[in-house]
Amino acid sequence: MQWAMRDPGFKTQLFRFVDAFPRLSTPSDVHDHLVDYLTQPDVKLPPFLETGLKAGRLAKGTMTKVVTKLISTMGETFIAGRDAHDALPTLEKLWRSGIGFTVDVLGEACVSAEEAIRYRDRYLQLIETLPSLVSKWNEDPVLDTDHLGPIPRTNLSIKISALHSELDPIDLDHSVDALFENLGPILEAAGRHGVFVNFDMESHAMKDITIAAFMRAVETIPFEGGLAMQAYLRSGDDDARWVAGWAKTLDRPITVRLVKGAYWDYETIHAEEMDWPVPVWSRKADTDACFERMTAVFLEATPPNAGEGGIKLALGSHNARSIAYALALAEHHGLPRSAVEVQMLHGMGGQLKHAARAMQLRVREYVPVGEMVPGMAYLVRRLLENTSNESWLLASQSGDADIATLLSSPHKHRSDADPGLARIGGRAERHNLSYSHPAVGDGRPFANEPLRDFSDASTRTTFESAVAAAAVPAVDFGATEADADDAVRRAAGAFPAWRDRPQHERSNLIIRVAGLMRERRDELSAIIIEEVGKDWRGADADVCEAIDFCEFYAREAARLGNATRLGSFIGEHNELRHEARGVAAIISPWNFPLAILCGMTTAALAVGNTAVIKPSAQSKGIARVFHGILGEAGIPPDVAVFLPGPGRTAGARLVRHKDISVIAFTGSKAVGLDIIAAAGLTADDQAHVKHVVCEMGGKNAIIIDSSADFDAAVLDVRSSAFAFQGQKCSAASRVIIVGPGHDEFVDRLVASTAALTIGDPTDPGTDIGPVIDKQAHDSIMGYIEKGKREATTALAMEVPDHGLMAGRHYVGPHIFVDVPETATIALEEIFGPVLSVFKAATFDEALRMANASRYKLTGGVHSRRPAHLEQARREFRVGNLYLNRAITGALVGRQPFGGFGMSGLGSKAGGSEYLLHFVQPRAVTENTMRRGFAPEL
Ligand code: FDA
Repeated sequence: MQWAMRDPGFKTQLFRFVDAFPRLSTPSDVHDHLVDYLTQPDVKLPPFLETGLKAGRLAKGTMTKVVTKLISTMGETFIAGRDAHDALPTLEKLWRSGIGFTVDVLGEACVSAEEAIRYRDRYLQLIETLPSLVSKWNEDPVLDTDHLGPIPRTNLSIKISALHSELDPIDLDHSVDALFENLGPILEAAGRHGVFVNFDMESHAMKDITIAAFMRAVETIPFEGGLAMQAYLRSGDDDARWVAGWAKTLDRPITVRLVKGAYWDYETIHAEEMDWPVPVWSRKADTDACFERMTAVFLEATPPNAGEGGIKLALGSHNARSIAYALALAEHHGLPRSAVEVQMLHGMGGQLKHAARAMQLRVREYVPVGEMVPGMAYLVRRLLENTSNESWLLASQSGDADIATLLSSPHKHRSDADPGLARIGGRAERHNLSYSHPAVGDGRPFANEPLRDFSDASTRTTFESAVAAAAVPAVDFGATEADADDAVRRAAGAFPAWRDRPQHERSNLIIRVAGLMRERRDELSAIIIEEVGKDWRGADADVCEAIDFCEFYAREAARLGNATRLGSFIGEHNELRHEARGVAAIISPWNFPLAILCGMTTAALAVGNTAVIKPSAQSKGIARVFHGILGEAGIPPDVAVFLPGPGRTAGARLVRHKDISVIAFTGSKAVGLDIIAAAGLTADDQAHVKHVVCEMGGKNAIIIDSSADFDAAVLDVRSSAFAFQGQKCSAASRVIIVGPGHDEFVDRLVASTAALTIGDPTDPGTDIGPVIDKQAHDSIMGYIEKGKREATTALAMEVPDHGLMAGRHYVGPHIFVDVPETATIALEEIFGPVLSVFKAATFDEALRMANASRYKLTGGVHSRRPAHLEQARREFRVGNLYLNRAITGALVGRQPFGGFGMSGLGSKAGGSEYLLHFVQPRAVTENTMRRGFAPEL
């Protein structure tokens, strides 16, 4: 641990290894993973490990023993036992030394209803057995009473995320209702047995649900309860006033455990990744100062006498300054010592605890119990905390600790200089994602449009109103072959002027399109939800991606529009120029009805092509709205001509028209191959060869390695396979599980998928909406029937009303196991919520199976073995490979999207090479020497 504090590289790899350790089943697994981690670049090893590794002396058996011992010891420091009964001697010993307890049953990542029920039952068992055991212990007035009367000896801490797998702030009321199925029985039993229950606070996204659930619990169930509140949140002051104000209206006090917050790194990284405002303070002193301000709010609300509502304050801190401040303020308010409780974590602050008890303070220890695998998240948080440079406890223990500094006031630091508040213009500047041009947009480099953060209440309300008001415009989809000819004629006529317009003007028009879509974001999402059945998040992501395409291609076009000088030869000037091809046919699909349509269109337009846009029949409404926005932005009508009509007639005519120069298509393999063939036929009077940009399907696989983190992998597979009913070309349709974890993984995946809600996509709680139409429904059902014959059905989720709700067609998620590699469902793209599961003996075999498909679009690997991740980078041959995450949701500029093989021609939408498909290059060479004289001289 000391070495970890000195060397950040070693710390990262050590903690990664510790995190993976509980899943490693054999000595050779332990050995190989450890060696892998320790030999990563930028790791400086402690001398004993360095020598051991170099000498090859880390024999597998011995090493496993030593490492197991070390990690178990580390675990035992922070985790008191496998369960509460195992930990009972520790609890009793604590009590005899004058310290109370709150027991926490480890297990926060629950992915299914069964797991939540198991967690609930462990608490119910504790509630029924612990009180009688602890009642035999000696009386201790400091622990047994406070200034308002007796307090329960049995004190439990719960995490709501372990009591229901589908809690989501996007649907707060329903989440709280669902949570009560398991929470209610716990609290009722606690009330009957006189057990205190504290609600721990988890990530920021869970805050509103936690507080709402706690309030409802206190108002409806007679039990004694507490709520953890976090001072590292920028909303800490408001949160404190909100909860204290409510508590004062009650007829009995509630406890608030004030903490700083244990997820600081996660909150910071997650917000950065999403480009959301960071919800936590970015400087430690601000957290400390907020802790003290919140302390003041809670002490102000502490009732002096029994029979009133208000707050009883518990301090969850090992920071003597934070604790001392609260004690002094309590004294100032005339409150007795017993009015404030001090709580510290098991394995930390031992001397502080005893010092506090010696001052007659009531001290309670937070005692986690449980197994290593579910406890790993907790353990890693403690390891991070105990190696953090910001930790007060560590600073106080170091030899050169300066008491004045340790106890100094945090308030003298001014928070208006907080760097976290001054956002620096999006990720792009930090990561240098893409080119910027002074005359394009506002001159700033590209940054992705942030998705909506639905944990924010006002975001939810605004979105909900938009969904309620959604109106899909009616579109006559009757364009004929003659209409197609007319559309091409108009676009061809507009081409020369559009091509010759200055590049920055074209780019700025495209950026204006982005601006108009940004202004109408929620309305566009709502139309998508209504028209194609996406869920809220899916529709929002679709609109964001459309905006991203505009912003990205506008800038990339400006870069490409500059002539590039080649070499620097004297007497000769060489330059490369790019010029639009002509009229582009845009043939877009319904599954990303705005994003793909907009991406293909704006790519063509930005570099100077004109376009004829043929939308899909199933998403013509949103296409019409988009076409309207192009016009509103100032793009001339003949530059982008709308051709709403069937593929058989208008579409077929369009791609075969001699004046079409480039075809951009996304859709099925059958239509894609037909277009490629048609484009190869050249009419006698045709002046160019057609260029095709083609994105087709996928049969995408995710490999689950033996060291994978199943908690994360189950959810990533579930979302990759079933989000938008599997109707994404990037969706997972195969899972390949390596080694003996197969059955456990399948069981968890099946249970987790069964917890999804099938329903109306306008409802925020819906996970699975309808498939696009009856034809799709029938085709998917046909594959499901085949699957039932070819393999073993592990899950066939029923749809209410036989698959038809409100005139829409539904297919429930299906999972098949024991699928032969040659089965139809293993080979063909289904484009629906159907997943095939395969077994592989080794990682090599899994890779071979994954690569066997003729489709090469997306793929994924969940593994904590660095060497396997590296091997996948080299050998997993797909257009988009995702390691340790879901395999859908590519972002413009960050994950240029597109596959090869039968998945397409290898063009990468949202990448810097994409625009090259829409231009033709020209090299211009000038001899600049006249009579031996050249300007360069
Ligand atoms: P200290 O004064 O050293 O503060 C460390 C804390 O400061 C970090 O944990 C972080 O919150 C904050 N910090 C660190 N770097 C920062 C930076 N650059 N900018 C801003 N802030 C920074 N946590 C939780 O989230 N939910 C819970 O339910 C509980 N429950 C709980 C119960 C008990 C009994 C205890 C003792 C603790 C908790 N915690 C918790 C954990 C708690 O939030 C916190 O992580 C630790 O107690 C460390 O805080 P101290 O005050 O002890 O130390």
